[in-house]
Amino acid sequence: MSDPITYAREHQADYLAELIDFLRIPSISTQPERKAETAAAAQWLADKLAQAGLENVAIIPTQRHPLVYADWLHAGDAPTVLIYGHYDVQPAEPLALWESPPFEPTVRDDYLYARGSSDDKGQVYVHVKAVEAILKNNGRLPVNVKFIVEGEEESGGESLAAFIPQNTEMLAADLALVSDTAMVSAQQPAIVYGLRGLCYAFIDIEGPKRDLHSGSFGGGINNPLNVLGHIIARLKDEDGRVLIPGFYDRVRPLSQQERTILAQFPLDEAAWLAETGAPEPWGEPEFTLVERLGARPTLDVHGIIGGYTGEGAKTVLPSKVHAKVSMRLVPDQDHEEIGRLLKAYIAELAPPSVHVEVTVGHGAAASITNFNIPAMQAAAQAYATAFGQEPVFMREGGSIPVVSAFQSHLGVETVLMGFGLPSDQIHAPNERFYLPNFYRGIETSIHFLQNLG
Ligand code: BES
Ligand code: ZN
Repeated sequence: MSDPITYAREHQADYLAELIDFLRIPSISTQPERKAETAAAAQWLADKLAQAGLENVAIIPTQRHPLVYADWLHAGDAPTVLIYGHYDVQPAEPLALWESPPFEPTVRDDYLYARGSSDDKGQVYVHVKAVEAILKNNGRLPVNVKFIVEGEEESGGESLAAFIPQNTEMLAADLALVSDTAMVSAQQPAIVYGLRGLCYAFIDIEGPKRDLHSGSFGGGINNPLNVLGHIIARLKDEDGRVLIPGFYDRVRPLSQQERTILAQFPLDEAAWLAETGAPEPWGEPEFTLVERLGARPTLDVHGIIGGYTGEGAKTVLPSKVHAKVSMRLVPDQDHEEIGRLLKAYIAELAPPSVHVEVTVGHGAAASITNFNIPAMQAAAQAYATAFGQEPVFMREGGSIPVVSAFQSHLGVETVLMGFGLPSDQIHAPNERFYLPNFYRGIETSIHFLQNLG
């Protein structure tokens, strides 16, 4: 045998074929009718972990989708690394916009197209193959390793959130390793040290008991859809400041040191804007674009249901209307408190002429990792070896709920080593994974585990 890196290079074709198998399974956690497929993805992954040489492989049932656990704990005093990922994926709709079907993985140019290819099956599989390459060559790992892979990340992650505080011994580690983020570009790796949190809420408004003719009743009965518009308009001002009283009270101010670091982030603003197709960037004027995207909290409306939305005109006062909103949060905002503040504020805005109800859904805490820990140096060095480029440290605007749970319940920091690209179209049609990053990711993971050991 050779060494793990050579071995991994020789097996790239096998790794790709296996990943394609994994991606064929439509493990959409939010859709109850996909429960069996979601379980099948857990079983598939458990089998691969066992074949890779991991031990104590377990499929752990939960209230919803199972957790997959495996470990290899024969490295004595060396550190223990807890590797986390998720095997569930987002819904694939709208299906008509996919160039090849979402669950028939297809390679075009250097990309593998499939739902979950980048978020997160491809990225979690990087570490399975890295561990396997080391074990098959050396017969042992340089560190102790535990895998915990969940099937509910895309729909709130509640089962793992409940499992962690009950199983701190089983999950005890010196650090966590997560690949569920993106690099800056194919040439520029990134280590994420900050993630935003989340508070999701539903607004339901009921006015008259049935739809009313707007000629007979308009002007005399309040229209729930107009009220919804008023409420939404008061959640945020034109410059992007959230207007909920108390919303910013706990926001940890950005230190001058951090603003300096963020100012060095190599964001190509023109290319970034072109990717979105929007006419110009927007947001809080006193913060830079990089700060607005990762280090500032925000609020967005995701959907409005109400009234007549078919073709042509109809004159109606709708009886019931609904909106979905979420707030992205930063340290030290508390998602439960933010939910209460939103409820209280909307209750104040709601006129007595309609019934307004706010239901707070899932939430997640934001996290900031101390990047002065030795593991960060080991990660930076691993990227430099595999990609020929030192990573930048960045804050990410998306959320990975488990990271703050690892901090608060296990006392471990997480190294967020992403191999996605900003153009991977995660959560959208034509999600893809850049295959050179799959292979370099495996090498980065091998170097990282060796550097740690
Ligand atoms: N992989 C993403 C997080 C992410 C998004 C990383 C964008 C890098 C760039 C993750 O799977 C995700 O989408 N998380 C949800 C969490 C929510 C359901 C609590 C999110 O951010 O919306
Ligand atoms: Zn993800």
